[in-house]
Amino acid sequence: MPSVVSNETRARTFYIETFGCQMNAHDSEKVIGTLQHQGYTRIETEEDADLILYNTCSIRDKAEQKVFNRLNDYKKLYKQGKRFGVLGCVAQQEGEKIFERAPYVSLVAGSASYRKLPEMLAQLERGEQRITGLDDRQTEETFETEFTARSNPHRGYITIIEGCDKFCAYCVVPFTRGKERSRASTSVLAEARRMADAGYTEIQLLGQNVNSYRDLEGKKTFAELLAAVGEIPGIRRVRFTTSHPRDFTQDIVHAIDSVPTLCDHVHLPVQSGSSRVLHMMQREYTRDWYLERIGWIKSAKRPISMTTDVIVGFPGETPADFEETVDLLGEVQYDGVFAFKYSPRPNTPAITMADSIPDMEKSARLQVLLDRQREIQRGNYSKHIGEKIEVMVEGHNTARGQVIGRTSQNKTLNFTTKQPILPATGNYLKVRVTNSFPNSLVGEAV
Ligand code: 5AD
Ligand code: SF4
Repeated sequence: MPSVVSNETRARTFYIETFGCQMNAHDSEKVIGTLQHQGYTRIETEEDADLILYNTCSIRDKAEQKVFNRLNDYKKLYKQGKRFGVLGCVAQQEGEKIFERAPYVSLVAGSASYRKLPEMLAQLERGEQRITGLDDRQTEETFETEFTARSNPHRGYITIIEGCDKFCAYCVVPFTRGKERSRASTSVLAEARRMADAGYTEIQLLGQNVNSYRDLEGKKTFAELLAAVGEIPGIRRVRFTTSHPRDFTQDIVHAIDSVPTLCDHVHLPVQSGSSRVLHMMQREYTRDWYLERIGWIKSAKRPISMTTDVIVGFPGETPADFEETVDLLGEVQYDGVFAFKYSPRPNTPAITMADSIPDMEKSARLQVLLDRQREIQRGNYSKHIGEKIEVMVEGHNTARGQVIGRTSQNKTLNFTTKQPILPATGNYLKVRVTNSFPNSLVGEAV
């Protein structure tokens, strides 16, 4: 890539703050890598940075307001020469309005424009104001860069598909991340091989709807790509997130069955257990249709852990609809549920529906759901007691003398070891499970 940096020799520093999902976390890794390639140095103190970047999320709540409040904090740091940039979903959503409310911001860019980052940096350095990288669902291109500054040396993300074309009634993502666009499988596999060569053992394939992947070259289905990544020498674990039920095909389960490195965990957001609400949400599936996919997962040769996302209090959700969601949790027996109170989002179809469920009622439903799920998890997690499970070491809890491990099913397993030296991060070892909680396992290294 030709460098578009001016010949200025002054050392330039940047500070970045990131919010939101794994896609955003990984975008920041790519942004950081790109900046470093352009000669910038990352620092951890915003006061001292020449450039302050804020990578934002707008999925729920009053995200825009939070961003403006934070930008207001930054204002105090404003001094001659210091530049501010807003990236991510709030940037795309609010666009040039950000310049009006925070005039000291010089750059506003959504994720579908990051491939233009080197040019935008050059504009910043020329002292230009009001630089925008906004994309109105036009882009066909993806942000591919070899300059990704991955934050973990053992497991890393690879984006295989960007954007979203599903337009669920509540969701802002199709408006903030542009239209759905997949990468070529050869490019994904080359990146995975480079990571394996660099010592990575775990790869997580990312996409807003990861399994909606359509190979740009028409060579591989999503399941075939999964299997191919899993077969790369040196790769021990492959994860993928997030799957959409509409595009969840049985060959994904077959791939997990036949390639041992594919982790035995599927995150399959259901959003509601009521077909009536699913219809209003424009999810384009019914409860039974979803449960059929769960049936495929349950019939796999090795037990596959399942997790989901749920929204409570969608406009028009009755107590009976909500009961169907609680009932579904018991039927599926998830190992984890991310549950959210519905929040109206700008531009979305649901914004025109009355937000009919009072916040107190949403909170009450959320609590009922979480209590039920906690009991389910207590049962599920306790079934592991006595098993010998392989973990990847993620860290250490020195205060407790414990090592923090993660299982292939994506469960946390905290364990002790009789060895005088604790196993280092990134190591794999077998642990016998001795105790369990609703969210974690406890064990002893074998
Ligand atoms: N309100 C509440 N939750 C939402 N999610 C997405 N949009 C909204 C919204 N407007 C949840 C969904 C999705 C997860 C990432 O966030 O459950 O799967
Ligand atoms: Fe938030 Fe969605 Fe954007 Fe991720 S894609 S940062 S969850 S709004």
